[in-house]
Parts: sequence; structure tokens; C-alpha cells
Amino acid sequence: MTEDIAPERRAYFERAQYEASASALRSRTRHRQQVGLILGSGLGALAERVGEADIIPYGEIPYWPTSTVEGHAGRLIVGGLEGHVVAVMQGRVHYYEGCSMAQITLPVRVMRLLGVETLIVTNAAGGVNPEFRAGDLMLIVDHLNLMGMAGNSPLRGPNDEAFGPRFPDMSQAYDPGLRQLAVETAGAEGIQLRQGVYAGLAGPSFETSADIRFLRLIGVDAVGMSTVPEVTVARHASMRVLGLSGISNALSPHAASETTHEEVLEAGRVLVPKLIAIVRGVLRRMRPAGSK
Ligand code: HPA
Repeated sequence: MTEDIAPERRAYFERAQYEASASALRSRTRHRQQVGLILGSGLGALAERVGEADIIPYGEIPYWPTSTVEGHAGRLIVGGLEGHVVAVMQGRVHYYEGCSMAQITLPVRVMRLLGVETLIVTNAAGGVNPEFRAGDLMLIVDHLNLMGMAGNSPLRGPNDEAFGPRFPDMSQAYDPGLRQLAVETAGAEGIQLRQGVYAGLAGPSFETSADIRFLRLIGVDAVGMSTVPEVTVARHASMRVLGLSGISNALSPHAASETTHEEVLEAGRVLVPKLIAIVRGVLRRMRPAGSK
């Protein structure tokens, strides 16, 4: 056993630890959640729409990582939204904060244990596609796992077959049916919805001009410092995933302008109403879990 290791340093967790976290949550809410939502930097306002909410600070859930970054509230909100029971993570922890991959993705596995089958992930991202502008919303069609390619996978270590297979398929990481619902919602609401490939980098430094040229060459549309580890763990556990990137800043290999965290948070304010409309529209159009 590895009881003496601080949670944030664990290379992997054992079943009993995920279970301990899940049972603590069960005792804090009467809701039985079906949909998990992870809200990125500056995008936390969606959580205010949840009805009959039970609010659980991350610090009160065993092994759950707590964020140190501005724009991340650090609480789990469980309640009703558009006919579904949702568990909303208002803020997430990033790899660059120093936690292990296993710890930053622990919430996804805990949600799975609690019955969540659909995960909606959002993030703030830099626009790499030259047509993208700050304030655009992008549906993630696929991702590039640059952290994982470099050896930092949350699935590294012993595989728990009860969650999923040793070598999980990632060919349809972002569920085509859910993407279709997002496109339909955008059309109905008159929201311009970009589509593209998200690249996950470790950060926390923003990209150099050479990084941006490289990302453009390899077909990336948006870049950020999250999402990919969570989606990898969700797909390992056969969850359906919808991903949305709020473009907080446009990146150019030629621009002399700097990228700042303030800019990322400011764009969140423009993005939040659009993001809320898309997520609510998708939930409304989704069959409730268990129905045929
Ligand atoms: N780069 C990486 N991550 C980001 C950016 C960016 O420009 N903007 C928001 N998250």
C-alpha cells in the first residue's frame, strides 16, 4: 500500500480511494447524477443555473484535487439542469499545478462510480486557426494528446479493468451524436459554433511563435492546458464526451502582443452566455439516461 504518499503525488490511485471519494459525495447529496460537467477558466457561471443545488467544496471530498488558479472556484455543484441531474465541477486542477495525472483525473472516475455516463468538458483555449477570434466558441471534434505522447498519460500504471481496458480506443473520443446536438442547438440559437482539433499542452507558459507555427502545421485549431487527460480517462471508462473550447485569445506566430491570464478570464465573460446556451440546448435535446 502507498498510504504515506500525499494524494497529489500519487502516480495512481487504488479502487478503495476512488470508492472513498464517491461514498463521501453520496453522503453529501441526495441527487444521483447522470451528467458530469467540467467548467474551464472563467466559465464557472454556468453552475449558477443548477436547480436545488447541493454545493460541496472540493476540500471536503477525499483525494479530490483543489485548484490554486484564479477563475476556478473549486466546488462541486450537484442538482437539476434541463431535466438531467448534473454534477458540475466549478473549476478544475491542471497538471501544471503540480498534481499527478492520476489526481487531476480522479474526479472523472469518481463521477463514473456515481453513475455519470456523459461528460461535458469545457475549457478556455488559445485560437491557433487563423480564422478564430477571441470570444468564439469551438466544438472539439478531436484532440491531439501532446502531453500523453510525451509520456504523461493518466492511464499510466496498473490498469483497473473494472474501469476499462488496458489499451482503450480513442478513435471517436468526442461523441458524434452529442456533437450533432451541439450543432443543432447552435443553429437554433443563432450562435456561431466553430469546429476543430484541440491540442493539450502541459503549460503553464504560453506558446512561443515557433510553437504556434508547429501547432498550425500539425492541424491544431485551438490549444490549452487541460481537457485531454480528463477525456482520456472518461473514454477509458466508456463515457460519452462532449467538448467545448471558449477561444479566449487568438494566437499568431507574427503578433507582438502577449497572451495574459487576465485576457483569458475577460473573454470568459463574452463566452459564458453562448456556452450556457449550447450546454442547455444539448441537455434539452439529450434523452434522459435510461430512456429508449
Ligand atoms: N495557450 C494555452 N492555453 C491557453 C491559451 C493559450 O493561448 N489561452 C487559454 N488557455
